[in-house]
Amino acid sequence: MRFNVLNFIEVKRDGGEHSEGEMRAFVQGLMDGSVADYQAAAWLMAAFIRGLSIREMSHLTVALARSGDVFQLDPSCGFSVDKHSTGGVGDKVTLVLVPLVASLGIPVAKLSGRGLGFTGGTVDKLEAIPGMNVHLTMEAFKAQVAEIGCAVSGHSLQLAPAEGKLYHLRDVTSTVPSMGLIATSIVSKKIAGGANGFVFDVKWGRGALMESYQDAVALGRLLVDLSWELGHPSRAVLTSMEQPLGQWVGNSAEVREAIEVLSGGGPESTRQVCLALAREMVLLANKAQDPEEAMDLCRRGLDDGSALERFAQMVSRQGGDSSIVDPSRWDELLPLAPHVVPLVAQRSGYVSAMDTRAIGEALRSLGGGRMRKEDPIDHRVSIRMACEIGQEVQAGDPLLHVYGRTLGSSQDVVEMLRGAVSIGDEPVEPGPLMRDVIAPLERTGEN
Ligand code: URA
Repeated sequence: MRFNVLNFIEVKRDGGEHSEGEMRAFVQGLMDGSVADYQAAAWLMAAFIRGLSIREMSHLTVALARSGDVFQLDPSCGFSVDKHSTGGVGDKVTLVLVPLVASLGIPVAKLSGRGLGFTGGTVDKLEAIPGMNVHLTMEAFKAQVAEIGCAVSGHSLQLAPAEGKLYHLRDVTSTVPSMGLIATSIVSKKIAGGANGFVFDVKWGRGALMESYQDAVALGRLLVDLSWELGHPSRAVLTSMEQPLGQWVGNSAEVREAIEVLSGGGPESTRQVCLALAREMVLLANKAQDPEEAMDLCRRGLDDGSALERFAQMVSRQGGDSSIVDPSRWDELLPLAPHVVPLVAQRSGYVSAMDTRAIGEALRSLGGGRMRKEDPIDHRVSIRMACEIGQEVQAGDPLLHVYGRTLGSSQDVVEMLRGAVSIGDEPVEPGPLMRDVIAPLERTGEN
């Protein structure tokens, strides 16, 4: 029977539930143009208001995932894992996690995106590395995972194209912040990416998609449940975006920080988040009996140089200059913008809060992110954090440093950031960097 899109919209408008066949037909209609954009937009608003059941999410996710190519890794690779972050500021975790987990014998097939809005993207960071190719063909991607155990590539246009179409419509119809639509969007892309298991880094706080912790928990639960429902073992880690992660925000600078962490050093917060996500990947792949053993393996990988070695291998396999792992080459290969201006504390006290989003926006206005899709990026511009929430500061102390291409741009951004770091009179207990791990219900014994 011919798909009746008007009836489809009415069902959701009136709070009904769609069948698998209807969802498939809807996505098919999106792809062949028989469902007009305005009809898809009307359905999105109905779905936003009425919500989607877990069954509907599963049907939609599968239909979106199958709307284009689905990566199939060579089964001889064994159980492969992928990770998704809901996006953050200073989030360079993928650069560390992928080679670390691969160095433990777990294949990582990582498809990454560019920066979106005020959040950074792994593809942009990797492009800061001279020569690095982040647009692998499906064949090259698969071959590399089979050969060295890991690859990071940008999403191909052929991957879940209906999801891209729907996302664009959500973006212009104010229907992005729907839990069900977010979960289907994320999980469909992960499934199309071909990995067996997924770890989700769901961030909460002022620089996150989900500002409230409760919303982040709800999204994490949905991502994990939906993935398991579709046969992909998954776990989620909740991490804070109440302040940028680590010390640096900016593309080249974040690659530098990732190399420090891969060398066993770097800021403790970045190291801890990378280790927690790696631990969950190790558990998913059944490479350890319990979280402690998994954590020991991950720590060793960072501290004994094996993760760094795998990173260098991956960079060179993707055409990049692997001598970037040597800090003495950074000024030449990963240069930072030359005009450094500090934002100084106007008063003494304790750092009580940060506007993480404003810091992400500031990087974008320096040229480190995009205003429009086609804008070029300046990988050198960056922001170095000089304080953390809870820290005591004296008037005149630097709170952060802005690295701009011109003195004027650095000064403008420092002005923009006045107020981004709040200072109070009372000592402040910093909130946790990470909270719960969300595992499937039957495994945790919750219900
Ligand atoms: N990230 C995604 O990939 N999809 C969404 O819907 C929101 C954030």
